[in-house]
Amino acid sequence: MSSFSLALQSLVDAGVTKGSEMGVPGDEMPRWIWRYLGINLSMSPVVVEDLLLKVSRKAYYREVLYRSLDSQGLCKYSAPFAIVAIVLSPGQSTVTHDHDVECGPLLIYGEVVEFYGYTDKLQNSGTGIAILDRSRRLKVFQPEAYFVPEKNNTHRLQEASDQSPAIALNLYVDAHGRSIRHCFPNLLGIESKSGAEWWTE
Ligand SMILES: [Fe+2]
Repeated sequence: MSSFSLALQSLVDAGVTKGSEMGVPGDEMPRWIWRYLGINLSMSPVVVEDLLLKVSRKAYYREVLYRSLDSQGLCKYSAPFAIVAIVLSPGQSTVTHDHDVECGPLLIYGEVVEFYGYTDKLQNSGTGIAILDRSRRLKVFQPEAYFVPEKNNTHRLQEASDQSPAIALNLYVDAHGRSIRHCFPNLLGIESKSGAEWWTE
């Protein structure tokens, strides 16, 4: 486990404890933690070197940093949530994907633009096409608004400087309080000739 992961787990655990002492309801706790992390990571030095060692031009790196259900004693204070680090090499993008859960990015290092939109389901077919007609430039240590599963939930993250790597934390929350232990993004396949991205249901 990386030292960043251990530091983040301590910070999140402290945040849940503080939030529960302040009376934050369980279903609002993930958003509280998201703001808490943005503030606290901006105020204290963030050691990301071990995550930067994972930078790879072949494929972007994902690491599950935190799952509330793994934290004995704290899970009763919060709806289940998970935090995953996305590490991008210069210019690299994640694949386009969506989620069955709420999700939102928090940039902690470098420069990232998020392209997002929706999936147009093709009639009478198991496939759809991603329409990413919007974008937002992430601001470091400022948690972005969540996407909800039903709306504009199709997206990808792209390193924006073309010069340096970037790291974003992604928060995943199930609005219905279900476990998201095994809930990962739904990936698109890439059609080899045209490069078009299609769902592979
Ligand atoms: Fe995502």
